Amino acid sequence: MYLALLTLVQAGDEVLIPNPGFVAYPTITRMAGGQSTFYRLPAASEFSFDLDDFKRQLSSKTKVVVCTSPSNPTGRTLTNEELRSMARAVEESGTDAFIISDEIYRDLYYTGERPGSISEFYPRTVVISGLSKSTVHDRLAPGVDSRRRDRNSRRAFAAWLRDDLRVNNFAEGRAGRLE
Ligand SMILES: Cc1ncc(COP(=O)(O)O)c(C=O)c1O
Repeated sequence: MYLALLTLVQAGDEVLIPNPGFVAYPTITRMAGGQSTFYRLPAASEFSFDLDDFKRQLSSKTKVVVCTSPSNPTGRTLTNEELRSMARAVEESGTDAFIISDEIYRDLYYTGERPGSISEFYPRTVVISGLSKSTVHDRLAPGVDSRRRDRNSRRAFAAWLRDDLRVNNFAEGRAGRLE
């Protein structure tokens, strides 16, 4: 996500972020030189998409729109209709903005159908995903285990996979998946 923002955002560009949204977005936007702006997902309507507010927040400086569905922290999945209306609003704004679709939770669903992706409705979409949620490997970020002094060696990484992940997942009652 950070690398995508670093690539797309120039100083002064706006990154339109859901509110409530994942806590790291404003920080990595700032690290990439951008300015965070926010669109509402109102609690009063069960964190659904507020199209009018979204349109108000789009500006000529909007370079990236972040779409997170399913969402952390709300747990809400946007319907295909909501995704389509978001895509249409960006298209009609004439900003030529990119959409970054954070789909890290898209494989966790308890209905008959996998949640939709805004990439189906908006071609200038960068899809971000990962393995940490779908495979229940929290903290699976190779090369960033700062607690080991020899963290760059293959042996340290193998030990981290073997010991730390097993401990983590055992704590969550999922040790069997790593055996
Ligand atoms: C919405 C969202 N995106 C991205 C991430 C980053 O996930 P990770 O660093 O585990 O790959 C998280 C982690 O909680 C998240 O909630």
